[in-house]
Amino acid sequence: MELNTIERDDIGAAAEDLVVLPAATRKVFVKTYGCQMNVYDSQRMTDALAIDGYAATDAVGEADLVLLNTCHIREKAAEKVYSELGRIRELKAERAKAGREMLVGVAGCVAQAEGAEIIRRSPVVDLVIGPQTYHRLPGVLAKARSGEKIVETDYAVEDKFEHLPQPKRAELIRRGVTAFLTVQEGCDKFCTFCVVPYTRGSEVSRPVAQIVAEAERLADAGVREVTLLGQNVNAWHGRGEDSEEWGLGRLLFRLAEIPGLARLRYTTSHPRDMDDELIAAHRDLPALMPYLHLPVQSGSDRILKAMNRRHMAKDYLTLIDRIRAARNDIALSGDFIVGFPGETEADFEATMQLVEDVNYASAFSFKYSPRPGTPGAEMNDQVPEAVKDERLQRLQALLLKQQQHFGASLVGRTIDTLVEKPGRQAGQKVGRSPWLQPVIVDEKAGEIGDIIQVRITKAGYNSLFAELA
Ligand code: 5AD
Ligand code: SF4
Repeated sequence: MELNTIERDDIGAAAEDLVVLPAATRKVFVKTYGCQMNVYDSQRMTDALAIDGYAATDAVGEADLVLLNTCHIREKAAEKVYSELGRIRELKAERAKAGREMLVGVAGCVAQAEGAEIIRRSPVVDLVIGPQTYHRLPGVLAKARSGEKIVETDYAVEDKFEHLPQPKRAELIRRGVTAFLTVQEGCDKFCTFCVVPYTRGSEVSRPVAQIVAEAERLADAGVREVTLLGQNVNAWHGRGEDSEEWGLGRLLFRLAEIPGLARLRYTTSHPRDMDDELIAAHRDLPALMPYLHLPVQSGSDRILKAMNRRHMAKDYLTLIDRIRAARNDIALSGDFIVGFPGETEADFEATMQLVEDVNYASAFSFKYSPRPGTPGAEMNDQVPEAVKDERLQRLQALLLKQQQHFGASLVGRTIDTLVEKPGRQAGQKVGRSPWLQPVIVDEKAGEIGDIIQVRITKAGYNSLFAELA
């Protein structure tokens, strides 16, 4: 059965599509690392550059501007950027021989954290721009084109989102039926392992009207599922249309009223900011998908304290009980760090026990990576790499077992699936389950944007296989 289908044929040229833009004379290649917020930011930068006459390209060799949108969360993520810059240096040299320019920009969290150091280490870079100043990109580029090396890493006082241009409707349609929407940025929590408060600055919530307008534009372009983004998304707050102070729960109820938007999600949350209203939204709002990414990082109270997480393991477990009481089919996901400074075998066992107690549907786990400028990097008792490796393997084996168990438990059940895109194999389409798993169906099962009911026939490693119910 089809639910709430939007007729894609209705999506024709709108009045705004008639605005004449400068002819796209230059090309930009954007490469995105890291989290979903970087994916969203890359889109917004592409939109800003489109106004400036840059068309997006997937071929780095033909780009007049190469922009790396970088991640600083772990050492490996940051190092990838420097190896990519090595490859780009050769491409730039080749283009120079052919008399063509190639500007190279580093954006994102490495840009914010390292600033001018990037140009010192990689002279191929022409401009460095941090996440708080993307709206200044066209001006920065104009200077860079005249040969100046630019480092733009202020925490801008003006509202970046107010100044970033909106994408064209045709571009939104091209991007598909699911979309990200940043509602909150930055973090004031200062977990001792984490660079985010330094790279993304302090917590800022976007105003209700701005968020609603953006969600309406997405829905108007055929988007069916919106994921609200924030480093601390459940700390989002703002003055509502009724002049009262809203939290994320209220905002979700408001967004669910927008015609066409069938599914809502949010990520990433901190356990301390899961308030009653948000838990009630999981109980009362059918559009809010039964999936929650709620990182805990460790199951040891001693380590939680050293990480400055501001809660204990039992607070997290009690919270999980309350969330499950509100919505019993909710799938839980989390993040874990093994080998934080001082972590003993007993601390690690406490993490394993917490994972057993919660039973996750999916999870991400990492070896602790000391980040420059964070308190964790200065702590004594750094854990040897071999110990981290061994613990990570044990934890990942347990998490994988739980994930596969969750997938297998769905076989035989009939579930809603949002048809999202063509499959990798001919004759297939890929949908998305309420619990965020890819669902492989026959291409005739539904049109992209339809929400169809399917029966799960098989659970694969990461995805589900299904037939029309
Ligand atoms: N080392 C390892 N993992 C980290 N994370 C954040 N900082 C670090 C670090 N220094 C992990 C956390 C976080 C996720 C996005 O990345 O688990 O929730
Ligand atoms: Fe990486 Fe964090 Fe920056 Fe996202 S916010 S790109 S995860 S450092």
